[in-house]
Amino acid sequence: MAFSSTSLMLLIPLLVSSYIVLSSAGNFNKDFQITWGDGRAKILNNDNLLTLSLDKASGSGFESKNEYLFGKIDMQIKLVPGNSAGTVTAYYLSSKGSTWDEIDFEFLGNLSGDPYTLHTNVFSQGKGNREQQFHLWFDPTADFHTYSILWNPQRIVFSVDGTPIREFKNLESAGVPFPKNQPMRLTSSLWNADDWATRGGLVKTDWSKAPFTASYRNFNANNACVWSGGKSSCKSNSPSSASGSASWLKQELDSTGYQRLRWVQKNYMVYNYCADKKRFPQGLPTECTHS
Ligand SMILES: *[C@@H]1O[C@H](CO)[C@@H](O)[C@H](O)[C@H]1NC(C)=O
Repeated sequence: MAFSSTSLMLLIPLLVSSYIVLSSAGNFNKDFQITWGDGRAKILNNDNLLTLSLDKASGSGFESKNEYLFGKIDMQIKLVPGNSAGTVTAYYLSSKGSTWDEIDFEFLGNLSGDPYTLHTNVFSQGKGNREQQFHLWFDPTADFHTYSILWNPQRIVFSVDGTPIREFKNLESAGVPFPKNQPMRLTSSLWNADDWATRGGLVKTDWSKAPFTASYRNFNANNACVWSGGKSSCKSNSPSSASGSASWLKQELDSTGYQRLRWVQKNYMVYNYCADKKRFPQGLPTECTHS
């Protein structure tokens, strides 16, 4: 059956107007600055899309103009497709100095058809060594997916498309430092790490496939505390915050959240420092035995 020209005429203005509505959501120039890569990082599509690229000469990166002290931050990312072995797309919050705090997502590329590894870590006061790694339940190069960090004074939760994959609780009462005093900037970069990234460095970057490109859209930090002039101001733009106060600042996982977290950890976790007894002959880190 042929598509009649009348229905096409009706459809076109509709498509055009919905495009305009969507494209008014752009914010990359407002929220971020490109920090390196000599033209390899680009802000496109009316400010709606940011792309990073990597070739043999250089990678590229950007960081948020704001510093945050707690927040619930979402970004949609589409990772380097095809043979991405040796490439690393890092997406993290980090403070400065030698006793820095950091909350890390790192996507380790792979040969076409082999799974990306999502590497996570939490640093507090300069100390990390808290790696957990996952494979994903979808192909992260086929489309955009949402990667979220909930960071409040009680916990850090890493989520993928709304599914929690990792929780790091505030266990200061048991003597484990927790990131809560140092504002952090959101940073992302695409770089070559073929000395370690893919199968521990066995698979090298295939430069004949360069440039490698990762894409970002729909950044959301509407629920966050922005640090400025020595103090932080918190906002909560979610209509669901009943009392009008920033409910994300107290958010915790409910029983469904824990159920999904366990599902991911059981089926998709490929490395857990808390299960690596050989690495910690003196005993596992305190947070591993206090959950
Ligand atoms: C790459 O694929 C291999 C084989 O499936 C897998 O063992 C590995 O975890 C994947 N990820 C990386 C980054 O090496």
